Amino acid sequence: MIDLHLHLLPGVDDGAPDLAASLQMARALVAAGVHRAVVTPHIDDWTAAALPDRESVYRATIDLQRSLRESAIDLRLEAGGECYVTPELIDRHRAGLLPVWGVPPGALLIELPHHQRIVQLPVLLASLMRIGPRVLLAHPERYPFVQADPAALDDLVEAGLLLQLTASSFRSGAQAALSEQLLRRGIVHVVASDAHNPQSVAAMVNGLERLNSIAGASTVQLLTQENPAALLDGTGPLRPAQPDFRTRRSWFSFGRS
Ligand SMILES: [Fe+2]
Repeated sequence: MIDLHLHLLPGVDDGAPDLAASLQMARALVAAGVHRAVVTPHIDDWTAAALPDRESVYRATIDLQRSLRESAIDLRLEAGGECYVTPELIDRHRAGLLPVWGVPPGALLIELPHHQRIVQLPVLLASLMRIGPRVLLAHPERYPFVQADPAALDDLVEAGLLLQLTASSFRSGAQAALSEQLLRRGIVHVVASDAHNPQSVAAMVNGLERLNSIAGASTVQLLTQENPAALLDGTGPLRPAQPDFRTRRSWFSFGRS
């Protein structure tokens, strides 16, 4: 698995609080089958002191990669971020402040305000996508406006927005039902851990097992390996999971890279 959303950098956000916690979480990720990851610390007002610009994220990622190597943890890192969307997003991108990752023109992982809908969101995202990066929206299943209307993002996806669901959302309950609904709409491109600690890595594994049971191993492979690789390396086409995925249980091995 290539994990495109996790909070592994030590001491910068609400993820790993220190290096020991980062190493513990990295070991859990490798044991769960993750061999490559884009670290995505929150890029927000509350992390601006620790991560003021793109270079600070790159430096922190290089430092952590060195520590992983010294600890014999086989996890390859890329530098990214989970960028909180504000009206200044485009200016911050133009100024080179946002951690773009992947094959040119690069990709940005974004998150939206949770309890307040941005009226100009379609215009903002269309403008951002026009000047370059692929835009990957983190955990749409968590936003109230998507919960109220699972079709709310269809037009934006049609315009080029990519959607990343969180693996643990598939476990059970209303969020699992919504995630499955989004998947069946054919608008989901990536599933990632959004891991903040080893417990959320375990939740990811449970979620992927459930996803495997409803959508099959080829869909899990598409969303956790093939599409992430397409974004990172330009390998192959990027395509959403198809709404007609088979529903019978199929075998998929977690814990292998
Ligand atoms: Fe996150």
